[in-house]
Amino acid sequence: MEYGLRKVSSHCSISEMDDYDLSKLLEKPRINIERKRSFDERSLSELSIGLVRGLDNYEPAYWPGGRSGLNSPASSARNSFEPHPMVADAWEALRRSLVFYRGQPVGTIAAYDHASEEILNYDQVFVRDFVPSALAFLMNGEPDIVKNFLLRTLQLQGWEKKIDRFKLGEGAMPASFKVLHDPVRKTDTLVADFGESAIGRVAPVDSGFWWIILLRAYTKSTGDLTLAETPECQKGMRLILTLCLSEGFDTFPTLLCADGCSMIDRRMGVYGYPIEIQALFFMALRCALALMKHDAEGKEFVERIVKRLHALSYHMRSYFWLDFQQLNDIYRYKTEEYSHTAVNKFNVMPDSIPEWVFEFMPTRGGFFVGNVSPARMDFRWFALGNCIAILSSLATPEQAAAIMDLIEERWEELVGEMPLKICYPAIENHEWRIVTGCDPKNTRWSYHNGGSWPVLLWLLTAACIKTGRPQIARRAIDLAESRLLKDGWPEYYDGKIGRYVGKQARKYQTWSIAGYLVAKMLLEDPSHLGMIALEEDKQMKPVIKRSSSWTC
Ligand code: GLC
Repeated sequence: MEYGLRKVSSHCSISEMDDYDLSKLLEKPRINIERKRSFDERSLSELSIGLVRGLDNYEPAYWPGGRSGLNSPASSARNSFEPHPMVADAWEALRRSLVFYRGQPVGTIAAYDHASEEILNYDQVFVRDFVPSALAFLMNGEPDIVKNFLLRTLQLQGWEKKIDRFKLGEGAMPASFKVLHDPVRKTDTLVADFGESAIGRVAPVDSGFWWIILLRAYTKSTGDLTLAETPECQKGMRLILTLCLSEGFDTFPTLLCADGCSMIDRRMGVYGYPIEIQALFFMALRCALALMKHDAEGKEFVERIVKRLHALSYHMRSYFWLDFQQLNDIYRYKTEEYSHTAVNKFNVMPDSIPEWVFEFMPTRGGFFVGNVSPARMDFRWFALGNCIAILSSLATPEQAAAIMDLIEERWEELVGEMPLKICYPAIENHEWRIVTGCDPKNTRWSYHNGGSWPVLLWLLTAACIKTGRPQIARRAIDLAESRLLKDGWPEYYDGKIGRYVGKQARKYQTWSIAGYLVAKMLLEDPSHLGMIALEEDKQMKPVIKRSSSWTC
């Protein structure tokens, strides 16, 4: 999946890029949305193979395309039925969340919740939260806001970033930013948070990855190659990659992270090599590979990416994968094996396998566990990491099918009454005290600790379509439709089956709204999947069988 890369003249580097130059970039003629269809053809024909089974039960969903629905490319022709009433509400709410900078839309705020006494930073544009908004706009044929966002955040990346007296890496992307309007001077200023204001002072590792993934989505959706090809975007990608491809003391190709550096942005025992980051890392590397120019500066990165992808996919597919067979193997592991012939390479103690896994693991099905590092296996299921693994083809087709089997088999636990559990199961009592540091927001089955997050609906839907099982997505969407609007689009739900609106959940949480719209549009027109999914790379040899790969 390579784009024909043409030469684009560059005016300046990102550090010199002033607003004049930025506006020039913004004005570049937009390629007609129609181009996207041909751009998608290859992946679509491949996609159709996977869809055959699921499409038997496939019913298109209908929606009006929001206020600009008239020029919506995908839906207008097929709108012969009434759309779900929630869709119009969702578009209205999504547009209300738009943030403007010097007259142009540059993002969406995290939550538009006037009833909430504490705004904290929910009035900011979060990079990760904007992704489903961006996809909704792209799918609706409104790419300009996405382009504005990509360029503005790129400008923020160029800032010098400091936490107290410590200088952060050049490539770091902000977790969020906001626009300060000065009504007297009539000026707008951007303020960004790279972790120096965030609760706990965590820098978001996922932001840069999402940025690259979004750049590819924009390129794929519009057919406009010129944005990704600009020296600014190429440099932005190189800076992000420099941060995560640098050599250190690592013995694994996975990326070492601090707790709270992704969507789960509070202490939750998600440090070391969390699946949430590894899957995004893999996807961002694949997207960068497709977008990087093979010029003097890009070539070296391309080589490093290829090598890393190779090692990373092997490592993840072998050591993070858990199914019934593998669980049984670990259960019977010997420990303290020395030398390269060791079967139990990470010295995982069978006694550390939590009781719930034995119950939870179906005979058919499997998933990527939360974390693997020396003598430590976090057996928890994480929704985002597993869905991204499917979308990026980090999961082999067999593994992707097994993840979907697991979701079907464990529907009550993972979906319950509101899609989708952020992780499973919740930690409680002593473990909660130790792992979260007694975090009152992350009590069992709440928030990041086994809470149910409507935003994850779009990831589930995309994974369902990729694996040819749209009927599962339809079931999940039906559940969401029975509550989301009525409850005021909450940020998350609490409880073992996700029945209660979250204790501290914001209302009108933008990514709950956008996630729903994206899920609807994906089901209506599965060709949209091309912008957020990658086909399997045949060159990355799949691991043959778990048991044989373990020893080789
Ligand atoms: C919470 C979530 C985080 C999200 C932010 C804004 O901090 O944990 O993932 O980006 O809210 O919605």
